[in-house]
Amino acid sequence: MSIKNKTGIPYYITTPIYYPSAKLHIGHAYCTTIADTLARFKRLAGYDVFFLTGSDEHGQKIQKTAESAGVTPIEYVDKIVASFQELWKRLEISNDDFLRTSEKRHHEVVQEIFRRIRAKGDIYKGEYTGLYCTPCESYWTELQLDENGCCPDCHRPVEKVSEEAYFFKMSKYADAVLKHIEENPDFLEPKSRRNEMINFIKRGLEDLCISRTSFDWGIPVPDDEKHVVYVWFDALSNYLTAIGFLDDPEKFKKFWPADLHLVGKEIVRFHTIIWGCILMALGIELPKKVYGHGWLIVEGDKMSKSKGNVVDPILLIEEFGADAIRYFLLREITLGQDGNFNRDALITRINADLANDLGNLLHRTLNMIDKFQGGILLETSGETELDSEIRSEALKTVEEYYNLMETMQISDAVKTIWTFISRANKYIDETMPWKLAKDESQKQNLANVLYNLAESLRIVGILISPLMPNTARKIHEQLKISEPFEKITIEDAATFGKIEKNHEVGKPEALFPRIEIEKPEPVQKAEKKKSPAKKSEEELISIEDFSKIHLRVVKVVTAEKIPETDSLLKLTVDPGDGDIREIVSGVARYYSPEELVGKNVIVVMNLKPTKIRGVVSQGMILAAGKGNKLEVLTTEMPVGAKVK
Ligand code: ME8
Ligand code: MG
Repeated sequence: MSIKNKTGIPYYITTPIYYPSAKLHIGHAYCTTIADTLARFKRLAGYDVFFLTGSDEHGQKIQKTAESAGVTPIEYVDKIVASFQELWKRLEISNDDFLRTSEKRHHEVVQEIFRRIRAKGDIYKGEYTGLYCTPCESYWTELQLDENGCCPDCHRPVEKVSEEAYFFKMSKYADAVLKHIEENPDFLEPKSRRNEMINFIKRGLEDLCISRTSFDWGIPVPDDEKHVVYVWFDALSNYLTAIGFLDDPEKFKKFWPADLHLVGKEIVRFHTIIWGCILMALGIELPKKVYGHGWLIVEGDKMSKSKGNVVDPILLIEEFGADAIRYFLLREITLGQDGNFNRDALITRINADLANDLGNLLHRTLNMIDKFQGGILLETSGETELDSEIRSEALKTVEEYYNLMETMQISDAVKTIWTFISRANKYIDETMPWKLAKDESQKQNLANVLYNLAESLRIVGILISPLMPNTARKIHEQLKISEPFEKITIEDAATFGKIEKNHEVGKPEALFPRIEIEKPEPVQKAEKKKSPAKKSEEELISIEDFSKIHLRVVKVVTAEKIPETDSLLKLTVDPGDGDIREIVSGVARYYSPEELVGKNVIVVMNLKPTKIRGVVSQGMILAAGKGNKLEVLTTEMPVGAKVK
């Protein structure tokens, strides 16, 4: 068995710290559930784990939201942060610390970092120039303005203004960060995100503006208090604060560099490039790994308040229980790719995998032990081929699971457990304990089968404990395992035969009730009235029909080939309003990715998103084609322009 004892090895894992700007949705719960599962797995494997999450509380946006709610920023965030903590408790998140950027310990760290980098000469004062909307108190870039060159929020004119600001010399570290990414293949995963970042740096890094004077809800710049520190500079530093960067050198030495920053794909850039430059300026090692997970999509669309498709995790937990939600997220979505959240799929998983496969295995087993042996596991002796097979399958499963979890292939690790659960259910059907129980000469055989089933369940309980801590505990309790649940390790799973002979198990209690799917009354779709118009007229569309198609000029920001396809490119495009999108386009035979980057092209903006090769494509690029020729339609018009 390749499971090595990891006792005492430090492991530091973080989630992003979330903005308290709105309620958390199931997408945030997804990120935190993965981190929690990895943290629990590492603890099970013996590591000395420090698992951090928290809240990112500063910035103009929060200050403004608080103002319009008629409360102070801290009053505003206190309330929302309390709701985060409540959610994490309900979801069984086992974080070791919760860092709020409004805490004093964090202010001290950020100010110290600022001082050190400034003293080194890597922070300088300059002038930040931007387009300012006075009523909204917001700076915008050219690209963000609306089609009339006005504020994209209130559509009033903006003015060019400059404010004094501090800048961080990112450009000085660009080459070193690039080299780090290129030379350390484990630093940034999955691989596809590496290329994106490499291309990003190669296009050149500008110095980063890291202070503002237009609002004050932030950490003051040391010795120049009319400035507050830029939110990302503030936020990223949280990973150092929580492990005692300034006040606990021993703890800091133990846990830094972090083993894993788990983050969503849209903030990989901040965690590799900006964070990499900051750490290099400080002379501190970079984290060992940044992993960019995909987005959770609801009905084919990224969740957002404006789209009204936000799924509230608290309601789901109330309805189905935390473990069922956790199971679904971990099993259904391949880490690194986008995944779909869908209520019917959740219910199907609960019924099939949890109530049926796992629930039945436990129920049948305990029931038979009770009925045939008075709840006692009797002495075993000898074994059939089926017995030795289930034993070796169990051990093989533990090993596979361990290797998959160590390499973050969580959904495959979960599948491995369920393959074994099916095998164990089949073992019952094959050995037919109810038949053995009727035959006095088969008593020993029966005792062996029931013991093997109890052992299989004990092992399954250990393997699922990082995913479904509550269910694992229930299995542990129903089997009446004498060792305390908290003390169980992965090595306990790697040994078959740990339950002592003559051990008495408990009575079965259901783990997951089956969920009845209420089928809504089939709604008769109103038959479209066929117009009595002549055929030729039917084929014409009205100007209103055409105006339903939103065509816009967008800039191609990044482009890359989709692996294992000949024709597909993944493009990121900027429509100028901040709503950066990904689009999959079938032009790879005609254009190299580099040829498209920087071009202004035309996109159908309101096309229903579809998932192509794991990428949610949000729109379509217009191109003209004839025979074996194809040309993407480009224009000199600025980004954001309407095509009509
Ligand atoms: O970005 N599916 O905070 P945030 C999966 N404060 N993940 C999702 C998601 C979805 N539908 N929606 C959001 C911030 N997330 C900064 C982080 S760290 C120093 C500062 C993930 O509240 C998203 O990808 O906007 C990101 O990783 C995390 O939630 C926090 O988002
Ligand atoms: Mg975000």
